Amino acid sequence: MENTGKSSFVVVANRLPVDRVVAADGSTTWRRSPGGLVTALAPVMRAYDGAWVGWTGSPDDELAPFSTDDMDLISVPLSPEEISMYYEGFSNATLWPLYHDVIVAPEYHREWWDAYRRVNDRFARAAASVADEGAVVFVQDYQLQLVPNLLRRLRPDLKIGFFLHIPFPPPELFAQLPWRRQILEGLVGADLVGFQRGGAADNFVGLVDRYTDATAAERRVRMPDGRTVHVQPFPISIEVSEITGLLSDPDVVQRGTQIREEIGSPGSMLLGVDRLDYTKGIGHRLKAFGELLAGGDITPDEAVLVQVATPSRERVEAYQTLRDEIELQVGRLNGEYGRIGQPAIHYLHSSYERAELVSLLRAADVMVVTPLRDGMNLVAKEYVAARTDLRGALVLSEFAGAADELGDGAFMVNPHDIDGLKRTLLAAMRIDESEAEERMKLLRDHVLSHDITRWAQEFLATLRST
Ligand code: ADP
Ligand code: F6P
Repeated sequence: MENTGKSSFVVVANRLPVDRVVAADGSTTWRRSPGGLVTALAPVMRAYDGAWVGWTGSPDDELAPFSTDDMDLISVPLSPEEISMYYEGFSNATLWPLYHDVIVAPEYHREWWDAYRRVNDRFARAAASVADEGAVVFVQDYQLQLVPNLLRRLRPDLKIGFFLHIPFPPPELFAQLPWRRQILEGLVGADLVGFQRGGAADNFVGLVDRYTDATAAERRVRMPDGRTVHVQPFPISIEVSEITGLLSDPDVVQRGTQIREEIGSPGSMLLGVDRLDYTKGIGHRLKAFGELLAGGDITPDEAVLVQVATPSRERVEAYQTLRDEIELQVGRLNGEYGRIGQPAIHYLHSSYERAELVSLLRAADVMVVTPLRDGMNLVAKEYVAARTDLRGALVLSEFAGAADELGDGAFMVNPHDIDGLKRTLLAAMRIDESEAEERMKLLRDHVLSHDITRWAQEFLATLRST
């Protein structure tokens, strides 16, 4: 259906919530885009009936505005060169590693920065042309940090909010960025800048005060023109009702039981679900699991690890290297400890339908979430939402944003401490039913009362009151 109207609520994100997939015969289908941003924002979008401005995931896609899944979509085209320099380059080989504790070394290239500026300008113009007079425009994530200021210049009548889904680094790391001042000035174009955690908000306020002409303290930025920018943490969440809705279908629950049988009905099924990203700590997890097998603490009959490693950013070198490393590790462990029809690790490099994913969450005795750094980690919250039966245990890294909220009920772990990780995995596998239930109640109390609806209401109410 074609839609050419203006909108009073506009989401601007690098990607549209759906990716265009072109088959060998030239036919097109749409598939949900990867990552937590879409999981979180799609329900918000449907509730507020707005327009979503973003890229289709394919080169040179110039499409007329269209609707899918109750959402109005406006596509922003990217050329192959821009995909390489703005998306794979500056966004995912400069900012992503810099903002995630420099787990791999960020690369600084001036031509990538030029492409980032150019593409941010295009997104700002697209948002300006679709926003109604006085509309709320909600800009998302690290790929679009220049958009708030560019958009304010084009459309001073708008209310502009920005939310960063990933961590915001400490000053000594951010200071490496040759374009640090421009990025900070881009962000303070918003009326409200939101982060996942309080520490990130504090990092940002300190950096604005130091590197721009604005003065900033106590989560308020005072701009030279007298405008105030509000800075606040808003830990993001999930649409709990989507998961419980899927579980109301007995087939989804039954499929969970079937998955356990298909993997040989082990004593414990451990599960990891991550984009194949070096921030997720998949290698640390495999190392700990492998050492438990090697040391005889567990046998492949007692415990099986299912690792879903979602394909991600496959043309970026660090992701190619990571894939080789992880697949080598999985191959070695299966070669050593697997038997015919019974691998120690089920490694799945593909995307799944939501229902299948929820069945997997429901099947797992231990959900293993061990990122070295993560803005939030929505998979941890999805696991909790799926455990309507109050069973299962969550192992959670201290370095995930979710640790601030789920620390009481989860088994907390420092993934760099392999012995600690081994002990924690064993403890989670050996938990008794009443402790599991007690912990899961604590987790569910939090997740059910802090879902994405509340997050959106809080962010948008704060934005409107600025
Ligand atoms: P990130 O945003 O870094 O990818 P999150 O854990 O916050 O990490 O969000 C990931 C989202 O993607 C979750 O909603 C999760 O269910 C979904 N997801 C992850 N892997 C898959 C997969 N293989 N198939 C379908 N959805 C997936
Ligand atoms: O915040 C995490 C995030 O980077 C989102 O911005 C993005 O939509 C998702 O992960 C998936 O990454 P990509 O769009 O690069 O596939």
